[in-house]
Amino acid sequence: MSFLPKLLFLYFWLFWMNQVSVFVTSQRRGRSGNVISGTVFVNGTVSIGRTDDNFICATLDWWPPEKCDYGKCSWGRASLLNLDLANPILLNAIKAFSPLKIRMGGTLQDNVIYETKGDKNPCVPFTKNNSEMFGFSKGCLPMSRWDELNIFFKKAGAMVVFGLNALSGRTVGLDGSAVGAWNSSNAESLIRYTVNKGYTIYGWELGNELCGSGIGARVAADQYAADVNSLRNIVQNIYKGFKAKPLVIAPGGFFEANWFIEFVQKTPKLLQVVTQHIYNLGPGNDNQLTNKILNPSYLDGGHQIFRDLQSILKNSATSAVAWVGEAGGAYNSGQNLVSNSFIYSFWYLDQLGMASSYDTKTYCRQTLIGGNYGLLDTSTFVPHPDYYSALLWHRLMGSNVLSTSFSGSKFIRAYAHCSKQSQGITLLLINLNSKTTVQVRVSTENPASNGGLSLQSEEQIPRINFATMSRNSSVNGNTREEYHLTAKDGNLQSQNVVLNGKVLTLNSSEGIPFMDPVNRSMLDPIIVAPFSVVFSHIPSIKLPACK
Ligand SMILES: *[C@@H]1O[C@H](CO)[C@@H](O)[C@H](O)[C@H]1NC(C)=O
Ligand SMILES: *[C@@H]1O[C@H](CO)[C@@H](O)[C@H](O)[C@H]1NC(C)=O
Ligand SMILES: *[C@@H]1O[C@H](CO)[C@@H](O)[C@H](O)[C@H]1NC(C)=O
Ligand SMILES: *[C@@H]1O[C@H](CO)[C@@H](O)[C@H](O)[C@H]1NC(C)=O
Ligand SMILES: *[C@@H]1O[C@H](CO)[C@@H](O)[C@H](O)[C@H]1NC(C)=O
Ligand SMILES: *[C@@H]1O[C@H](CO)[C@@H](O)[C@H](O)[C@H]1NC(C)=O
Repeated sequence: MSFLPKLLFLYFWLFWMNQVSVFVTSQRRGRSGNVISGTVFVNGTVSIGRTDDNFICATLDWWPPEKCDYGKCSWGRASLLNLDLANPILLNAIKAFSPLKIRMGGTLQDNVIYETKGDKNPCVPFTKNNSEMFGFSKGCLPMSRWDELNIFFKKAGAMVVFGLNALSGRTVGLDGSAVGAWNSSNAESLIRYTVNKGYTIYGWELGNELCGSGIGARVAADQYAADVNSLRNIVQNIYKGFKAKPLVIAPGGFFEANWFIEFVQKTPKLLQVVTQHIYNLGPGNDNQLTNKILNPSYLDGGHQIFRDLQSILKNSATSAVAWVGEAGGAYNSGQNLVSNSFIYSFWYLDQLGMASSYDTKTYCRQTLIGGNYGLLDTSTFVPHPDYYSALLWHRLMGSNVLSTSFSGSKFIRAYAHCSKQSQGITLLLINLNSKTTVQVRVSTENPASNGGLSLQSEEQIPRINFATMSRNSSVNGNTREEYHLTAKDGNLQSQNVVLNGKVLTLNSSEGIPFMDPVNRSMLDPIIVAPFSVVFSHIPSIKLPACK
């Protein structure tokens, strides 16, 4: 078929499909919810962003067990200083990513002293003290613990980023402004120790939430730029002769346009990664958290800061790239039974999709473990639903990001990347609606590609019956692989997630279970059940952007 007839055909087909979907909708309404049709449009001309191969990252924090929010203490023994590194689930969970990026840091990082030879004071952990900033005294990282952490990360195959104390040497005024230059001597001693021991660090990050208005304390952009210069010199010097030097990363804080513009302008050749933090759902005790997550307009509010930061980087001479260095959704440790339940995957996966479409290279989830927002449970280490969402993303979504839009329902969030390991593309579809099943067709921009018109017949009434999903689908030799995630028992606040009809649980040796797809024929639409997430890997859609 030449292009014009193909277009006409597409037009009539879409028209007809709409009629059918209205019919099907009206037939089904009132029985088991609505069924509607929609189309995901993927522009395959060029990719709009390119993430790191290892886009998924998770954080480990310093908070001691005494850290409490709204009367609840959710950190247990999840601090870098006391986490049980011998726990087999922890090891298996990290290993499954091979590799997982891990960012060590958080509020207390600018309160940490690194043990050095000949210290006058003993190396002691944080203690609760309400008259100190953030409610804790300074704490010390013993080098014996630093050894344990590095040995563990090496064994688990993690790529680690360490957040350095950037308040060292400054005095913080009553108004929160930090005065003076960064005293790098303690950080330098840690870096030298690390190199002498042969530990590999992927990046050194300077400071936590000290940019802009700051959380607790703030450092002016020009001073911060000078401090990044010091860190850069230290790294260049200590890693002299190393083929791969660690990245220099900063400022690890909340986006404020004016501060970031100045900072980026003043660090053109120094800085490799600009990190921003995201807590766009509000405080952890907000009783509207689930409503916000289910509200497409609320989620759309997340676009702005990605767009702004991308444009600052594009319009400056910097070669720095953007990362989300820490994102936990709801601040002050998240909310139990929300931040650690199935519903949070709607927010989390949507953020991953959104961030990558603005060329964000890495996205660090607060936390791997600790608080209410851990990918792993703070006390049992058992993975929460978001852990599996992250792992599926990591395995399926390649680094080339495709421009994607959806028509048919505003409750569907749609993202597409080139596939990670094989040909074709992977779609991520999120259905925020409680009742409506959406049958999704895929349309690609490129008329020359196979996927230009991926016809899917409407003859089947959608069934969410996974037993029937792997029927012989080698018809046309055209199949796709699907991963359907739903909440256990339909309870959005369940801590268990169901993949293709089966609850995901650790296997008998505490290993991460296999996550097998179901095969579907390209003749069938992608069926996105109410309150579900679908990853669909479509090998037959071959796009120029994915070459
Ligand atoms: C697809 O992307 C290309 C490159 O950005 C653009 O020129 C083209 O207009 C896009 N097509 C549509 C329909 O948006
Ligand atoms: C708590 O911090 C304040 C201010 O730094 C200090 O004066 C006080 O001695 C500390 N209290 C304890 C018990 O360490
Ligand atoms: C930086 O800190 C070290 C260790 O506390 C101290 O010996 C040194 O004098 C400080 N340097 C400056 C310039 O203040
Ligand atoms: C699937 O269909 C193909 C082609 O019709 C056929 O050769 C094959 O035996 C079928 N496989 C199964 C498992 O039914
Ligand atoms: C459990 O899962 C791990 C990781 O997938 C695997 O290596 C191991 O063989 C599995 N053990 C059992 C008993 O299935
Ligand atoms: C899906 O198809 C692949 C090959 O395309 C095959 O290896 C796999 O066994 C199939 N899975 C199911 C559940 O039929």
